Amino acid sequence: MDLSFLQEKFISVFGKSSEATFFAPGRVNLIGEHIDYNGGLVFPCAITLGTYGSVSKRSDKLFRVYSLNFENLGIIQFSLDDLSYNTDHNWCNYLKGVLKYMLEAGHTLDTGLDLVVFGNIPNGSGLSSSASLEILMCKICTDMYKLNLSGVEAALLGKKVENEYIGVNSGIMDQFAIALGQENHALLLDCNTQKYEHIPFQLKGYSIIIMNTNKRRELADSKYNERRGECESALSKLKTVFNIEALCDLKVEQLDEVSHIINDAVEFKRAQHAITENTRVIAATKALASNDLVTFGKLLNDSHRSLKDDYEVTGKELDTLVAAAWNAEGVLGARMTGAGFGGCAIALVADQNVDAFIEQVNVKYTKEIGYEASFYIASIGNGPTQIH
Ligand code: GLA
Repeated sequence: MDLSFLQEKFISVFGKSSEATFFAPGRVNLIGEHIDYNGGLVFPCAITLGTYGSVSKRSDKLFRVYSLNFENLGIIQFSLDDLSYNTDHNWCNYLKGVLKYMLEAGHTLDTGLDLVVFGNIPNGSGLSSSASLEILMCKICTDMYKLNLSGVEAALLGKKVENEYIGVNSGIMDQFAIALGQENHALLLDCNTQKYEHIPFQLKGYSIIIMNTNKRRELADSKYNERRGECESALSKLKTVFNIEALCDLKVEQLDEVSHIINDAVEFKRAQHAITENTRVIAATKALASNDLVTFGKLLNDSHRSLKDDYEVTGKELDTLVAAAWNAEGVLGARMTGAGFGGCAIALVADQNVDAFIEQVNVKYTKEIGYEASFYIASIGNGPTQIH
């Protein structure tokens, strides 16, 4: 990608050239949805859409930050001496949170920075623009201040920002997928132990198509926290009969035996999703290892049905998009991805059918929903990098 516009913007905003430019990806989750906070396995990958930052060091403690995505906000300025959350600082609170927890972890940040940011992850699409920004800031600081911060530490720090500084109770998947992304590999992460493995993900003759409902993920945070609460309640009841730490420690048969313990139809369904989704991740990675894309695709479909019926996080737009994908030619599977309630879905489509697929699905979607969906062919890229 030609990044000269970033350089030009830096010069026009700050009147000097930047010293370095960095990139952090977004992510898409292949399977293992809403189970990172239930001790399950997730299988996401980093994508080549993401967030860029051009930067130069200052001699004082100020941060002066400008985003090409929010040009109306102009330069936002804050100091290392006051990293408290400030609504006026808008998206820069993600950066401030990273800096605050870096200092608290004992890292030395001696000066401020001038920074111009640009992201090409569609806003509100559920492809983790916020985790991308957090991990970008971790990478900028690591390189500019010569810190010793591993990818796993960056992921945990980003999650802490999200949970404690921003106040969104999300799990560890997004930051991990982004901080540890590897080109043409998906990341199999055990969220209980944080053990992970990079699994080759190059599909012969097939592509992953990202389909954006273009419905913003409104209310997603409150619904997200509601689902977490339901899972926690189910878990505490199950703990009275099983010696478990997380819902995903259970097997499906064990849950069926003790449905009376949960004694709440909604909580039972939530637990059922978590437990069955975990088994689908295991089956999906096995299918992939034996090049069985047909089974992999079926598991994507089952995952969507479970997220629709048991976890209830899909909604009309995602269901319409996925159903249209299921009916199109050359499709092995499709499901929503990310938190749900709008945002994106993915489909596994034969390369020769991609153009017709996009056309056909979009026509159906637009007819039903009243506005268009957007489509991107997913390229699986690396984690955070210094570009120059
Ligand atoms: C959001 C959260 C993740 C994960 C997904 C659902 O992306 O940030 O931690 O819970 O939703 O799988």
